[in-house]
Amino acid sequence: MSSRLEADHLYKVFGRRPQEAVARLRDGADRAELRADGATAAVIDASFTVDPGEIFVVMGLSGSGKSTLLRMLNGLLEPTAGQVRFDGQDLTALSARELRQVRSKKISMVFQHFALFPHRSVRDNAAYGLEVQGVPRAERERRADEALALCGLAGWEKSWPDELSGGMQQRVGLARALATDADLLLMDESFSALDPLIRRDMQDQLLELQKTLKKTIVFITHDLNEAMRLGDRIAVMRDGRIVQTGTAEDILVRPADDYVASFTQDVDRSRVLTAASVMDRDVRGDEADCDCETAAPDTPFTELCAISARVPHAVAVLDEDRELVGVVPRQRLVGFLGDEQGTPGTCDNRRDKGGEKVAVHA
Ligand SMILES: Nc1ncnc2c1ncn2[C@@H]1O[C@H](COP(=O)(O)OP(=O)(O)O)[C@@H](O)[C@H]1O
Ligand SMILES: [Mg+2]
Repeated sequence: MSSRLEADHLYKVFGRRPQEAVARLRDGADRAELRADGATAAVIDASFTVDPGEIFVVMGLSGSGKSTLLRMLNGLLEPTAGQVRFDGQDLTALSARELRQVRSKKISMVFQHFALFPHRSVRDNAAYGLEVQGVPRAERERRADEALALCGLAGWEKSWPDELSGGMQQRVGLARALATDADLLLMDESFSALDPLIRRDMQDQLLELQKTLKKTIVFITHDLNEAMRLGDRIAVMRDGRIVQTGTAEDILVRPADDYVASFTQDVDRSRVLTAASVMDRDVRGDEADCDCETAAPDTPFTELCAISARVPHAVAVLDEDRELVGVVPRQRLVGFLGDEQGTPGTCDNRRDKGGEKVAVHA
């Protein structure tokens, strides 16, 4: 079971006269203007909804406002303006006590530098959130062990933190968050400090866990590849504002502006795109009758390249009812790979190179 999270025109301004700063931001002022007056607009007019069971990624460079946004979502920071609703409840209207209760029962947070208590066993570390809630020992140990097992740490319950590798310690952090049974997981750069291979492993583990747990997850990262890999949807932040929200494909194929486009420049598009994202939808009826090679709308880009390479003409894209919904001329494939993606027409190379780059829900 999980719940819907809504951010509604959230603002957070640090420094001088925050309310006045919000009024000016609403009138179109930007971060730089406010800074001159001693106010830092960390988050500006952020609105989004995270559906139950969704992984919503917030991505942006350092300083773009991600952590501030996340801290408002669990009430650690009070918004200067706007609302956070979780499970239909307006978090901004709760008393400090009610808020603490929601935070300990319904929301879990996993940080980048996850600090384990060195003098507690792995089990007691994982059970910490439950201990704070006052759950009796036997039950919290059972739930902690379950969560540890989910995170691949069965057998390590009685170990000490310093007997675990960095990646395993981070898993204990995840287990602690899962043990509380919270519906909402907030993850702030949780994997960013890990070595690439371990990081990938953690991403896989999270996707795997999510298949059964179906938590509502907000995951923060400055890494686009990680965002594309994990996010059902991604919000891109720049200078305190969300400049685009969409699927990995939306962001690659329909960037909202030049900034997003430049951000996504190095992504291996072939791992994200499908026939539906690259096809020409402006099709004429006569093409429907042609005896061409066909693909489905969800045919992956690399496969489309392979099909296209076999024929001199365009590939027809047919829906489930065998209706023509688009065509893909070969030149179009090359165009979608982008300038930096090597020589035109080398679709097949891209498939081999793709391995280390983005793999979206592979
Ligand atoms: N407590 C604070 N007081 C003043 N400024 C802050 C505070 N927290 C964050 N900021 C500023 O707000 C901006 C956004 O910071 P942050 O949310 O940490 O970004 P990110 O997590 O994307 O790196 C930065 O300019 C940062 O310096
Ligand atoms: Mg941060």
